[in-house]
Amino acid sequence: MIGIFDSGVGGLTVVKQVISALPQYKIVYFGDTARVPYGNKSPEIIKKYSQQDLEFLLKKGAQLIIIACHTASAIAADFLREKYPAVPIFDVVRPGLDQANQVTRNYRIGIIGTENTVKSGAHKRYLKEINPQVQVFYQACPLLVPLAEEGWIKRQETRRIVRYYLKSLKKNKIDTLVLACTHYPLLAKVIAEVAGRSIKVVDPAQEVAIQIKEYLQENPIVAGKLTKSGQRHEFFASDVSDKFKDISHKVLGDKVNVRSVDII
Ligand code: DGL
Repeated sequence: MIGIFDSGVGGLTVVKQVISALPQYKIVYFGDTARVPYGNKSPEIIKKYSQQDLEFLLKKGAQLIIIACHTASAIAADFLREKYPAVPIFDVVRPGLDQANQVTRNYRIGIIGTENTVKSGAHKRYLKEINPQVQVFYQACPLLVPLAEEGWIKRQETRRIVRYYLKSLKKNKIDTLVLACTHYPLLAKVIAEVAGRSIKVVDPAQEVAIQIKEYLQENPIVAGKLTKSGQRHEFFASDVSDKFKDISHKVLGDKVNVRSVDII
């Protein structure tokens, strides 16, 4: 199976893209809803939680892991790869940046994410590695996760807050904006409207699905081990709230049967 984990419900935006790019494989998802958010926790705790999330998915039979959470990707991906060298582990930081690097014309790229994602500097390091010409402009947007979870997608208040967050990025003349948080695709429409036509908005979830598809084509042995999706996808969360059910319905369309699990 393809194992996907996130700090909560937002990672379902990644599940959606993976199902659409790789409909033939079964997915097992874990959302750590009891301990969300990761965005404001210490790096040590994020690494510890991420390792527990990954262990749970491996026990469920995952052969390939996607870290859907940007905060966990920025802080714990290399740590997990070192601990589990035999497991293919994908994060959501690099694919979005590869795409942003292809899209930008003026080499000025904006990154929006949680406080921790911004503080990690992971995006800046990777972009400098692949293209030293690129200038990176960060903006932490801590209010966007709760707004997305509350379903305040079309509210004027949300538009105003997005306008506030994008102000300095626009002033810095970015032409590309990376949605470096699982929840932001839920607000993609208002973010794109506020950003305006001169800024291309990149959703890393789409690119991660494409990169995994390519990886599986090049690694048929791993692909052969993955369970085909004749069986239903499995969804687990450490706390199954009505909000989780609501958002999963919004993101994945049909009713998702989420089971509660204690992973500690
Ligand atoms: N999943 C987190 C991320 O993508 C957002 C929610 C949180 O802070 O845990 O960064």
